[in-house]
Amino acid sequence: MAIRPVIYAANWKMNLGPAAACRFLERFLEITSPLEGRSLWFFPPAVSLAAVSEAVRARPDIVVGAQNIHWEMKGAFTGEVSLPMVQEAGATAVLVGHSERRHLFGETDDQVARKTAAALNAGLTPLVCVGETLAEREGGRTEAVILRQLAPLLERVAADDWGRLVVAYEPVWAIGTGRTATPDDAAQVHELIRFTIARRGVPARIRILYGGSVNPGNVPALLARPELDGVLVGGASVNPDGWAELVGLS
Ligand code: PGA
Repeated sequence: MAIRPVIYAANWKMNLGPAAACRFLERFLEITSPLEGRSLWFFPPAVSLAAVSEAVRARPDIVVGAQNIHWEMKGAFTGEVSLPMVQEAGATAVLVGHSERRHLFGETDDQVARKTAAALNAGLTPLVCVGETLAEREGGRTEAVILRQLAPLLERVAADDWGRLVVAYEPVWAIGTGRTATPDDAAQVHELIRFTIARRGVPARIRILYGGSVNPGNVPALLARPELDGVLVGGASVNPDGWAELVGLS
């Protein structure tokens, strides 16, 4: 029986500059080896991309991605980083629309869709995050929020391109809070996302990761659900031994 491919994505957020990232990888690469069906994705801060890409060059099971990009290729956008720049630094993927970008920095659904389309055009794999807040979930609006977030993406991404992107379902109330969605809750929203995209005539089966307080204790039950194609992890991904344990567990 073929092994189901699983993606373990590490979102380092604003942690691990170039020197610390190199120390992390030195240890992590020493204690892990490539495993069939397992793909390891790292999203370091932009300044660490080149060092991380260089450090993992001999590991085809590892993908390196940026945490954010601008949709324009160059120009007067102080503080922003472009797709060609992160590509030059070795990124082949990019995180788009993380809830911290949406909620702390005011990124809109439409900006997320523009970034996603730009990344696909440039040949990078976007990992697009969606998810509801606690108030939205408690108000029974989870489905409406997910559909609202997906709508501009469905406008801007051609049906044939959906197979090249990955979606992450990250309920905002579960991020960094220690509170995880149950495997059932996560699977239900994954199915909603899959159904919504398929209904628009998208032929590919979309890869969908779950994120929000994933740790070595809860990852086996989450990944036991076939609706999940992997996990996107923040806090539990910044220590090499802990991350090696988590990716070796399910
Ligand atoms: P967390 O973060 O694992 O620390 O909850 C997940 C994320 O923000 O991607």
